[in-house]
Amino acid sequence: MPRSVPLVPALTACALALALTACTGSGAQGTSGAPGASGVGDPYFPNAGNGGYDVTHYALTLAYTPDTHRLTGTAEITARATHDLSAFDLDLKGMQVKSLTVAGRKARWTRKGQELTVRPPATLPEGETFRTTVRYSGTPETITDPDGSEEGWLRTADGALALGEPTGSMAWFPSDNHPSDKATYDITITVPKGLQAVSNGELRTETTTETTTGDGSGATTTYSWRTTHPMATYLATVAIGHYDITRTTTKNGLPVYTAVDPHEAAASRKVLARLPEIMEWEEYNFGSYPFSSTGAIVDRRGDAGYALETQTRPFFPGAPDTATLVHELAHQWYGDSVTPKTWRDMWLNEGFATYAEWLWDEDHDGDTAQETFDALYKGDYYDNKADSEAIWAFPPAKPTSAAHISDSPVYERGAMVLHKIRRTVGDARFYDIIQGWAAAHRYGNADTADFTAYVEKMAPGKDFGGIWKDWLYGDGKPARP
Ligand code: TRP
Ligand code: ZN
Repeated sequence: MPRSVPLVPALTACALALALTACTGSGAQGTSGAPGASGVGDPYFPNAGNGGYDVTHYALTLAYTPDTHRLTGTAEITARATHDLSAFDLDLKGMQVKSLTVAGRKARWTRKGQELTVRPPATLPEGETFRTTVRYSGTPETITDPDGSEEGWLRTADGALALGEPTGSMAWFPSDNHPSDKATYDITITVPKGLQAVSNGELRTETTTETTTGDGSGATTTYSWRTTHPMATYLATVAIGHYDITRTTTKNGLPVYTAVDPHEAAASRKVLARLPEIMEWEEYNFGSYPFSSTGAIVDRRGDAGYALETQTRPFFPGAPDTATLVHELAHQWYGDSVTPKTWRDMWLNEGFATYAEWLWDEDHDGDTAQETFDALYKGDYYDNKADSEAIWAFPPAKPTSAAHISDSPVYERGAMVLHKIRRTVGDARFYDIIQGWAAAHRYGNADTADFTAYVEKMAPGKDFGGIWKDWLYGDGKPARP
């Protein structure tokens, strides 16, 4: 028997009519409730994410063969209905769905663009936790972003790599693909024996299965990773290939797991050796580290076009420099633990991570943050005029379109906003603010209005009106530095 879940108004009417048997009929057919929305209303990515439910956990069981580029996956998605749900969407681009169940029962589905619309056999009542299992396979897609960069599933020199900012995770698993819905993850990846598979969180098991065919060609290794703290879909990663693995711990006992393409090993050694020291410096400045391990993934230079702050295990295309390592590790606090509510709030990620680089320089015999700020304001930070002027193209809190969410106004001008705050409140209060911000929204989501309200609360009597108006929301170059 399907659960019977009449709409609330229908129930009231029925209760009044004392005609409950007749009323449960419609619920029994599972036609009550409403479909979840196909997006969460993100101002830059309207189709990203879905309405009607919150995911709490993804269990992904994947197998990938680099020779054929074929990915086979099972996604078990645990979610809670946020209203009586007659249907709901997941985001999945490409791949073939082979079967789909909700609460163990076959469900129908349709596909249109990135929307995988699921019709469970019976309405899911508000508040109910339910599990959706999607079996799928195919050749995963590389997705080109509005700004032209490539994400999703990328083929690398010796394997593959999944990068998901802002929307690429839908190339390799079905999800509620928006930063506002964070969840824990179990990611299990089977690859041909001899290759490694690295992901977020902690490695739980590594199991090799020999085949009986004799030549060993069918032998596989399965790597099982677990992320126990909430993670946005865009921060999930899988890296498959040959890697030199290093495991150490920081002074505090935090596990450090680095995976480095052997071609990049020599060039990476010195900078990665500083990872524990950078972590300690960041904990001192930003507050206690939010996750249960750290590390890095280094592939070859041409394998991707940018670094990414994949949770606990930032990714680098080629050996990173210290500044980039400082930047991606700073994102673990600002971006990964405190995650933007929408893609408009990107400067809360990039402004902070960029300012972390300035602070690192200042604390390590480099330019002071004030000198960096002044160089940017005067226009002699970059060696060409176009770059110098680009930082004034739009205000950090209002990128002009999805194609511009990773432009320099979000990064450098975002960092300038933080420096203006620091100058207004002084160093002691400033560090209280950036640590307090990370603590107040730890594992959650926040937007620009939350941030300005927090700063004002932390510095009563100070006037931030001009900073917000001219530096954060205002068009053009502010009149005064
Ligand atoms: N977040 C990355 C960094 O650390 C850069 C980046 C990669 C990015 N892809 C993106 C930023 C897509 C915005 C959108 O700087
Ligand atoms: Zn960044």
